[in-house]
Amino acid sequence: MKKRVLVTEQFPSSIIQFLEQEVEVEYWGKPDQMPRELLLKKAVNIHGLITGKDQIDQALIEASPKLEVVSNVSVGYDNFDVEAIKNAKLLATHTPYVLDETVADLIFGLIMATSRRITELDQYVKQGKWKFSLDKTLFGTDVHHKKLGIIGMGRIGEKVARRARLGFEMEVAYFNRHRKQNVEKDLNIRYEEMDALLESSDFILLLTPLTKETYHLIGADCFHKMKKTAFFINAGRGPVVDEKALVEALRQNEIAGAGLDVFEQEPTDPNNPLLQMKNVVTLPHTASATMETRNQMKWFAAKNMLQGLKGEKPDALIKELQ
Ligand code: DGY
Repeated sequence: MKKRVLVTEQFPSSIIQFLEQEVEVEYWGKPDQMPRELLLKKAVNIHGLITGKDQIDQALIEASPKLEVVSNVSVGYDNFDVEAIKNAKLLATHTPYVLDETVADLIFGLIMATSRRITELDQYVKQGKWKFSLDKTLFGTDVHHKKLGIIGMGRIGEKVARRARLGFEMEVAYFNRHRKQNVEKDLNIRYEEMDALLESSDFILLLTPLTKETYHLIGADCFHKMKKTAFFINAGRGPVVDEKALVEALRQNEIAGAGLDVFEQEPTDPNNPLLQMKNVVTLPHTASATMETRNQMKWFAAKNMLQGLKGEKPDALIKELQ
């Protein structure tokens, strides 16, 4: 008998058909998240779950006695309860590598959009406000030859650093749990302690994954340390930042602006004060969302699933869970 896999992310039919050659597939197929109650009900009879946002926790694991593999269509896996998955000895996979360049591109979009006020000026033109020459109150800030400080130097950080060094001739520093001396040498960037990086960078890019240790890592004390002219970019996970402290820092002009792909709560509340601020560029967690890359991530997640269910070692087992 074929094993059963539940897919709660939206997938192209070609990948569903690929899965169906080996397993029985239950495909949710809706743009909304599958309601938790329904997920718990469906989980009773599945061997594999391909997901992106569902919480894989003790309750889900208990509801799913046959579950063998959970495959996340994402490189981050903060929706996985690592301890519960370890205890249940499930295989857990994710989709690293394939999104690095795409996410780095978008991050540069946020850097450019905030400093050169691209979204704000787009509205200015579209609202018919462009009369003669641009008033200097609408001028932006240069990116080239400025200093970029990256907090969390993984593969995506490296791709951003490469763009910054080679394309924009920026000075780049990073803070990370472990030093990466090969990357320092390769890209001519340097390691800095967090405070020094916060105090001296023109652009501060947060890429740290969300864990118990990184929750609210960036709070009021960090914003106090940043330059008044600095732009803060978050393309990691929302809850790594104390969003109330960010709002306050922007209200008090402690920083010049922010570019946010992620929020403490997603989708963010339409009344979030950040959405009213002209110097804040907001995106709906879209860093990896190109057609090409999202398709690659889905193929990767499907292959991980089949490898796991066939008793092979999946290409992208989550290291922490191996
Ligand atoms: C990831 O893969 O973790 C990204 O945040 C998804 O866009």
